[in-house]
Amino acid sequence: MPNRNMPAFKKPVEKRSAKAIDRLLGMKDIVPSEFRYFSTVSDKAASLAELYSFNAIKTPVIENAELYKRSSRHNNDKELYGLDCEKGENGILRPELTQGILRAYIENNFAELPQPVRLYSIGPVFRREKMQTGRYRESNQFNLEIIGENKPMAEALLLAAAYNFFQDLQANFQIQINSLGKIDCRKEYAGKLNNFYKERGRRSKLCNNCKKYLGKNMIALLDCKEEVCQQLLAEAPQIADCLSDESREHFAKVLEYLDELNIPYNFNPYLVRGLSYYNDTVFEFWPTNDEGIANSKLALAGGGRYDNLVESLGGRPTPSVGLAIGLERLVSKIKDKLILPDLKEEVVFLAQLGDQAKIKSLILFEELRRAGFNVRQSFSTDSLKNQMEEASRLKAKISLILGKKEVMDETILLRDMESGVQETLAFKKVKDKLEKKVNRKEGVIYG
Ligand code: HAM
Repeated sequence: MPNRNMPAFKKPVEKRSAKAIDRLLGMKDIVPSEFRYFSTVSDKAASLAELYSFNAIKTPVIENAELYKRSSRHNNDKELYGLDCEKGENGILRPELTQGILRAYIENNFAELPQPVRLYSIGPVFRREKMQTGRYRESNQFNLEIIGENKPMAEALLLAAAYNFFQDLQANFQIQINSLGKIDCRKEYAGKLNNFYKERGRRSKLCNNCKKYLGKNMIALLDCKEEVCQQLLAEAPQIADCLSDESREHFAKVLEYLDELNIPYNFNPYLVRGLSYYNDTVFEFWPTNDEGIANSKLALAGGGRYDNLVESLGGRPTPSVGLAIGLERLVSKIKDKLILPDLKEEVVFLAQLGDQAKIKSLILFEELRRAGFNVRQSFSTDSLKNQMEEASRLKAKISLILGKKEVMDETILLRDMESGVQETLAFKKVKDKLEKKVNRKEGVIYG
């Protein structure tokens, strides 16, 4: 799509001087004609994050290398961009946003705030990777973290936010999801996997990289994209057989919520993710082509639960879950389809009490948002009083209240925030009623 505001940048015709300095390998310019795609996607990301009650945070691009070496696969120095810092400090360019955000959570004492703390951040990460299509050494991530929440609802909420973000942008994708269980489960599974590769000469068929992991990091074998290793995997035991009752129940609940939210997913028993800090739920969003075939090598997003990471970085035990979306890959996928959002007007606040009401509210939230209403919520707050205070703070014109009774009766309570007058409506009539009561921009906003 041509840029309406900028003249097209033509490649220089003349040969460049030998003195010209090129950019470094794996680095990319986002030139003005391309920039608007990034800014539109980043704006949409930020407004979606705010709607889902995430607060923005910006952490330094340069962090202490120890933060990353302690906590992920980046213990491989080759992938980190190390820096000469003052006073013997061991600095690096961050390869992910997650650990920097957790450091900030610990350092700023966010554990004292009401939990969970939801943070989002958009910014560059640096990984000295082997060059391949769609793999850069500097890339930008839209990162969401729910810190201090052990309930499976956290995964459902995060997946719902990312799912709707991709849907709005008309990106074709497939959610891959798995559970890695806890550390004991992974130990038991690693043993089973080791035995499996010992049998029938399977070891010798593995690629050289996987051979190096044998007996040391068996789970890493599941992450190999080499065809021969993938073929061997098809018969390998599954981690699901080693899950504890607690992990099994947690994962079943996540999937149940996704079903209720009508979010399709593919249970992928071999999905492990490259980063070692995860436990229980892990997921990726794989792009699909027009035939619906998924590409596992260019994931648009990835994330999962990491209940021990905050503690391993020096904080209190803090169960958490997070996800990051790669903006370069996303922009290259949806470039031709971007639709600019319209303006939204008066605020409708959605309040809920209880898990079932929360799920129903999430569905209604999306419906109203898509219909162009400026709908807000506070899904992380359980107290109705606090939710209504938030509605007042946002100067909502209307509040919609969904409790246990309303879920059972298929109704919803509508409160006019100016007059305080309340009425009970049939749940299916809510959109029609709102159309008469609040100002919204006419016309469908997305897609
Ligand atoms: P990740 O899977 O390493 O996860 O990266 C997230 C996304 O960033 C990938 O799905 C991909 O779209 C993009 N990405 C990663 N590396 C590159 C690259 N070299 N070039 C282009 N795009 C890339 C994380 O970073 C975790 N911190 C996610 C997370 C947040 N887990 C919990 N909280």
